[in-house]
Parts: sequence; structure tokens; C-alpha cells
Amino acid sequence: MENPIGNKPIVNEAVIKEIAIHPSVLCADHNILANEIRLVSEAGADYLHIDVMDGSYVPNFGCGTEVIKVAKARSELPLDVHLMIKDPGRHIRFFCDLGARIITIHPDAAADAEGVLAAIKGYGLTPGIALNPDTTIEDVKKLLPFVDHVLAMTVVPGFGGQAFMESTVEKITELGKLANEYGFTLCVDGGISRSNIKKLALCGVTNFVVGSALFGQEDYTCAIKALREAV
Ligand code: DX5
Ligand code: ZN
Repeated sequence: MENPIGNKPIVNEAVIKEIAIHPSVLCADHNILANEIRLVSEAGADYLHIDVMDGSYVPNFGCGTEVIKVAKARSELPLDVHLMIKDPGRHIRFFCDLGARIITIHPDAAADAEGVLAAIKGYGLTPGIALNPDTTIEDVKKLLPFVDHVLAMTVVPGFGGQAFMESTVEKITELGKLANEYGFTLCVDGGISRSNIKKLALCGVTNFVVGSALFGQEDYTCAIKALREAV
């Protein structure tokens, strides 16, 4: 398959790696949250993606302490905590104590992103950075030696259910090359579905946050299987 920007695929079909699915709990039905978390965990997901929003870094409020506690109580999946908050360094210990496995920050929200990433690592967790659609690789290049996880936002952060931004694909192709060089996992977040998952895997993406294309489906096992089969 050709990759979307017309160049040779970064990853050959034959060597597409095993993919990981991170359901975005923000998009679950929170009236029946405990059940949603149990069902999606039993359906073959690899992580639970928790969107924490402060109404300031992004114009919305997202999952908080109580949601994380429900996730911990109802699932054994590792928690992938996406902090869309200002000054994330103040809260690393807090999310560590709540049971996070991956903590991803938006480096532009932190005065000392390198220090925050070191703190995450110091707690034995996986440090990640998120790149907004308009964040360039140059903007974050100096942080790449300190991260194990890179989250490429494929929508403007703040809300589930938005359309995938094709304009991010060129940068993701570059990140796919850097993932091998620096040894981080490359994850995408926003508008991911069966229709775009393969072209992103061909760019070297291995981890996929999926919200609205998963929650609301009748059968989560079938939906996750369909995502894997699409790759
Ligand atoms: C957006 C969040 C995403 C989002 C994913 O700010 O970071 O995790 O909830 O939802 P979908 O897959 O519906 O775009
Ligand atoms: Zn997210």
C-alpha cells in the first residue's frame, strides 16, 4: 500500500509491528462507566487511555480522579494518562499514586518539560510527550532522548469525536523514522478508525487511541478485532 503522502511506505507491509489499542475512556458512556471499562478491557484492548483536561490548557474538562479510580477498580489494563493540563509537573506524583503506567504531557504546558519527564521516569513510569497538530518536530526535538512514548495528536485536543486531520500525516511519517532512531513508541490520538489505521501503521505508528470509533459499537470485541484486521 502507498503511504498517504505518495512516498514509499516507511514500513513494509511484511514488517508492520503488532499494534496496541488504547480505548479513550472519555468517549465511553459515563452513565455506565464501570461496565464500559470492564467490557472494553475484556474485548482485547491493550491500555486504557485517560484524557485529563483542566478547562484551561484545553477548553473542556475531562476525566479526573474518580474516573481513574473506576478504571483501576474494573480493569487490569495499564493506564495511559494523557494530561491536557497546564503545569503538569505539579501533579505527576498524584497520577503516579493513582496507578498511571504511561504519563503523557504537552511540553508547551510545562515550564521545565525535561524536568517533568525526568520525574515521570523517576517514578518508574513511561514518560510521553504529545504533539498538537501545529507542533513541529523541531519544537520538541531536544526532548526526544527523554521520552519513551510520543503521542501525535491527529485532532486539536479537547474533545472526542472530531475528524482526523490529514495534515498531520507528513509529520507522523517523520516521527515514524525517529521512533526507530530514539526508541520511543509512536501513538496517534484523534479520529482514528478502521479507515485510517493502516496508512498510519505504514508510517510506523504502533499504538492507537480510539474513542468514538469504538465506544458506541455494539460489540467491542468485534470492533477491536476489526481495527487489528484493518492493519
Ligand atoms: C482528544 C483526546 C482523545 C479523544 C479520542 O483531546 O485526547 O483521546 O478523546 O477520541 P476520538 O477517537 O473520538 O477522536
Ligand atoms: Zn487523548
